Amino acid sequence: MREGTATLIQRLDYQQPAFWIRKVDLTFDLDPAKTLVTSKMQIERNTAVPHGPLRLHGEELNLLRVLIDGSSVSFRQEGHELIIEGAPDADFALEIRNTCCPDKNTALSGLYTSGGSFFTQCEAEGFRRITYFLDRPDVMAVYTVTLRADKARFPILLANGNLTGSGDLDNGRHFAVWHDPFPKPSYLFAVVAGDLVAREQRIRTRAGKDHLLQVFVRRGDLEKTEHAMNSLIASIVWDEARFQLPLDLERFMVVGVSDFNMGAMENKGLNIFNTSALLASPATATDADFHRIESIVAHEYFHNWTGNRVTCRDWFQLSLKEGLTVFRDQEFSMDMAGTPSARAVCRIQDVRQLRALQFPEDSGAMAHPVRPDSYSEINNFYTATVYEKGSEVVRMYQTLVGRAGFEAGMKLYFERHDGQAVTCDDFAQAIADANPGSELSTRLDAFKRWYSQAGTPRVTAHGEHDAATQTYTLRLTQQTPATPGQGDKQPQVIPVVMGLLDRHGVALPLDADGTTERVLVLDQAEQTFVFNGIPSEPVPSLLRGFSAPVVLDDGLSDAALLVLMRHDSDPFNRWEASQRLALNRILHALRAGQPLVLSPVFIDAMRALLNHPELDPAFKELALTLPAESYIAEQMDVVDPQAIHAAVMAAQIQLASALRDDWAAAFEAHQVQGGYTPDPVSSGKRALANLALSMLVLDAQATGDTVWPGKAYQRFKDAGNMTDRMGALAALVNANAELAAPALQRFHALFKDDALVIDKWFALQARAPEADGRVFARARSLLKHPDFSLKNPNRARSLLASLCMFNPAAFHRTDAAGYVFWAEQVLAIDAINPQLASRLARAMDRWAALAEPYRSAAREAIARVAAKPDLSTDVREIVERALA
Ligand code: ARG
Ligand code: ZN
Repeated sequence: MREGTATLIQRLDYQQPAFWIRKVDLTFDLDPAKTLVTSKMQIERNTAVPHGPLRLHGEELNLLRVLIDGSSVSFRQEGHELIIEGAPDADFALEIRNTCCPDKNTALSGLYTSGGSFFTQCEAEGFRRITYFLDRPDVMAVYTVTLRADKARFPILLANGNLTGSGDLDNGRHFAVWHDPFPKPSYLFAVVAGDLVAREQRIRTRAGKDHLLQVFVRRGDLEKTEHAMNSLIASIVWDEARFQLPLDLERFMVVGVSDFNMGAMENKGLNIFNTSALLASPATATDADFHRIESIVAHEYFHNWTGNRVTCRDWFQLSLKEGLTVFRDQEFSMDMAGTPSARAVCRIQDVRQLRALQFPEDSGAMAHPVRPDSYSEINNFYTATVYEKGSEVVRMYQTLVGRAGFEAGMKLYFERHDGQAVTCDDFAQAIADANPGSELSTRLDAFKRWYSQAGTPRVTAHGEHDAATQTYTLRLTQQTPATPGQGDKQPQVIPVVMGLLDRHGVALPLDADGTTERVLVLDQAEQTFVFNGIPSEPVPSLLRGFSAPVVLDDGLSDAALLVLMRHDSDPFNRWEASQRLALNRILHALRAGQPLVLSPVFIDAMRALLNHPELDPAFKELALTLPAESYIAEQMDVVDPQAIHAAVMAAQIQLASALRDDWAAAFEAHQVQGGYTPDPVSSGKRALANLALSMLVLDAQATGDTVWPGKAYQRFKDAGNMTDRMGALAALVNANAELAAPALQRFHALFKDDALVIDKWFALQARAPEADGRVFARARSLLKHPDFSLKNPNRARSLLASLCMFNPAAFHRTDAAGYVFWAEQVLAIDAINPQLASRLARAMDRWAALAEPYRSAAREAIARVAAKPDLSTDVREIVERALA
């Protein structure tokens, strides 16, 4: 947030605060131009630390007065601190009055306006932009909040907790008083005021308590909140059933806002959501949107226990709440999906996401441990590592102690720490203590290296079969590459869930009991595991369900991969085998510098998969989709984004043409009849039909045929839901069909008043497969489109992140125009919204792995940004790490 030189904050420097704030009474006189905040705090000195002054955080505030026990007191302001030397030793009351300017707050941190209403975002350090406070998560207070505002413009006044009073005031103003009985850190504080409407639902939980659930949105959006409300109810039911964690407030509110930096925020009893993570209707949202909304609503709700009831001692512990809560929302989504196959589809999607986002992070300039050691701007550490890798770490606990053991560990964690601000160590200890003698508790210290070591471990596997003794010896090794600031690494504790198949795909018993699956615990640099009674050379199926966030090199032949793809009992590894077959071909062509030619064996395997009578369409779609270009890049020592794109396009076109008739049959066979529901079965059919259609249009484009583009256009026009409409539009745009232009025009005209859909319109164009610089040129011209704005994060991302982060071939150009564009946009956004700029800045994380001429040009562009003297600390930290 702050400008100027960044101070590096170190994890090991943690100290308790010199004072505790136990209670706070806040009064807001809400005015968009200038809001008056009165804060009355009950403070006590913390005798556990050396005697010192009271230092409160405050940023972008205008201080009016400071009173201690009703009398004025001397203070000074230094940088972003308000320092009071003469604070009493006995408990005292501190009163502060200040103003802030919500209308001018384009950073969207603290109190700001959006669409004429007031919203707050306080995590991580936004509360200090509202009033002076000990804005750190280990200071937990009980809040009472009085809101006063013009009644006509701001009829709805919301804050955390329960409504304890409301009424009219003079001059057309009114007020509301909210009390939250649970002590909480300031980052969970929230206020909303505006002209909003709510969908309401009363529920009685298992425990027999009544609750009011409300989803607040702008007038006109109410019919798009049904899915969010259903997701919230399902989340409440699930957390009670799976972890015995009930809803603890009478009222639970969710609010949507169009201008928001992240997905959503778990403020106590008053979750605030980016509308993109909340609003859905069949006509405007895709299956993927419905699925994402369900998981984010669940995520924020689950934070009520993992994050709010037990919170983080300091921001280095962020994964304590985020990794755990992502794990919980992933488990929830799997349970909601239902069938084993639908669960596997969830898992595959999560792993694909991890590999596309977290693996590159772990090998780039911003590589950091799940529990970082230092930061200058904490907002830069809301990362795929802290969230998604953090979730994989929690999943490994569960794999090591079993599901029941993990639930016992969670129970102990809440028994010990409810109402406290704790660390990742406390969590680890609770899970271990609840499972004495387990694979986890006997090597807890080694296991905790997952929190301290950055980088993705490489695991190699080499099996040897001895026909004479009928033994199979599996040798596993592990090695974690060096990352910035971490030269050598210790072995990690890696649970390898595995089985062995014979050549025909039959599962082999691994011991005398006939078990066909085991968890091997790899905790040394090198280990061997011996299996007896194995009659012939088996095919190992390792790391089932992706049991650890590692890169596995098992050296399997195509023949072995085909056995796994066809027969493995683990659906994740069946999918993995299909991806590896494709990846091997692409990598082979890239490394040899030769054009990619798919072999008949591969084509036949893919055809068999597409036409398989039993496999789910959703699974087929995942298996037939080629690996992401960013994931392919991760396998290369030197990255040439254009070569990777060319190889993937070649593979796609060959797959499209070789399976032409099969795609056509699949398209016809997977039409969904009847009304729209986003359930796994119908969304799986739509996904496969959309993939088939895009293949058919791509092939038609290559052959000059016009039938399929015509069909796609017709389908685009007639579609009964956004998934089908978007699928058809994407098929046209991605193949660069002539009908793409009229379709895009029509789409815009149809949805010009729906911002979330127009975001899709921008994103689709910016993400289209590059050919001859066309996509880059279009993206650059879209900057001037009247609907484009840098101020709205969703809109800015829809064009800029899509181009710079999700379209490598359009972005990385030999003429460096992509990098020049990136630098311009990062600087322009930094003046408006540092958090948003900083996210975009990360498009250059992996510059050092690029081939020339990209590498030098990228470095130059980063240096140009770094040379700007008044950069935010957010962007400065990113570019300085990149150049380090
Ligand atoms: N705790 C929120 C979530 O994961 C994310 C908020 C992050 N906000 C930020 N400005 N860094 O649900
Ligand atoms: Zn979260």
